[in-house]
Amino acid sequence: MLILGLESSCDETACAIVKDGVEELVSVVASSKEFHEVTGGIVPEVAARKQIEAIVPVISESLRKLDKGPEAIDAIAVTTGPGLIGSLLVGVEAAKALALAWNKPLIPVNHLMGHVYGNFVNNPDKIEFPVLVLIVSGGHTDFVYMRNHGDLEYLGGTLDDAVGEAFDKTARLLGLAKYLGGVQLSNLAATCENNLAQGTLPRPMLERPGFDMSFSGLKTAVKRLINENKFDNASVACEFETAVVDVLAGKSVLALEKYKPKSFLLGGGVAANTNLRTRLKLISNEHDTSFFCPPIRLCTDNAVNIASAAFFNNKSKPLNEITADPSLGVMDEA
Ligand code: KG4
Ligand code: ZN
Repeated sequence: MLILGLESSCDETACAIVKDGVEELVSVVASSKEFHEVTGGIVPEVAARKQIEAIVPVISESLRKLDKGPEAIDAIAVTTGPGLIGSLLVGVEAAKALALAWNKPLIPVNHLMGHVYGNFVNNPDKIEFPVLVLIVSGGHTDFVYMRNHGDLEYLGGTLDDAVGEAFDKTARLLGLAKYLGGVQLSNLAATCENNLAQGTLPRPMLERPGFDMSFSGLKTAVKRLINENKFDNASVACEFETAVVDVLAGKSVLALEKYKPKSFLLGGGVAANTNLRTRLKLISNEHDTSFFCPPIRLCTDNAVNIASAAFFNNKSKPLNEITADPSLGVMDEA
């Protein structure tokens, strides 16, 4: 089954064609990131206008790469939320137009589930259920237990800032990047040979039972640390990254011990973080659980994830029932 997926929830405009949920045939991604770097943060109006400019070229390029006509496509999938409403609407309305014109079913997809399914694509190793999921993105940080496709239990998540948001704000405080500086922060942390700031930042909620987390206090603490000017920037970056990884790894150990999943899946933009991947793989090995994380390219937003999630959770709906919902949570049906 060939699914054409569309993703337009934030600043990426993406189209992909995926076979049977696992075989990536085509992926095209356009990004308006450079425009938001100028303003030091995303301006939703600008992001939506850039979506409009990119959506048709991205779809045309995908079909050109597939080298087959629309008759080869079995269904259309689209991200309906969470995200920025102006951006989401562009993808949702484009998907409806395609479904109507080509007479294909349309499958709404929750963007966060897309991040989970990045693990299923191009992956020769079998992912066995039950599965523990950790989603770490710019807007979300959630633990989910999956008994099977579509059978989810929410375990806990951040009560305030998402991990990606904390990375981005810290990168900005350190003067590394004005917009989405997670990678730059991580690169600086990697240059630190001796973390002089070790132990100066809190590991919020690590000692508490349960899977809820909090990262806004960490952000305030790192701001104080930078203002004190006692340590070099590489040590601060390293201490911040270590504090985040300590919390996520600590909560993951709790979840692995309580739920004893067969597989542990990491997803979302922050899943690209090398230290996080390494630590979670290590603790998974210690708990006889297979660890999976998508290739870096599929950690950040793309439409391959969306087409894959649609295949495994195929709940196509009539076109007039599909709407963009900017505030979907991980447990909400798209
Ligand atoms: O999933 P995503 O592309 O967008 C949302 O759905 O929110 O995640 C973007 C987030 C940003 O906060 C970005 O700084 C962060 O992922 N990120 C990283 C790394 N690569 C991307 N954070 C830490 N280390 C990285 N290597
Ligand atoms: Zn995302």
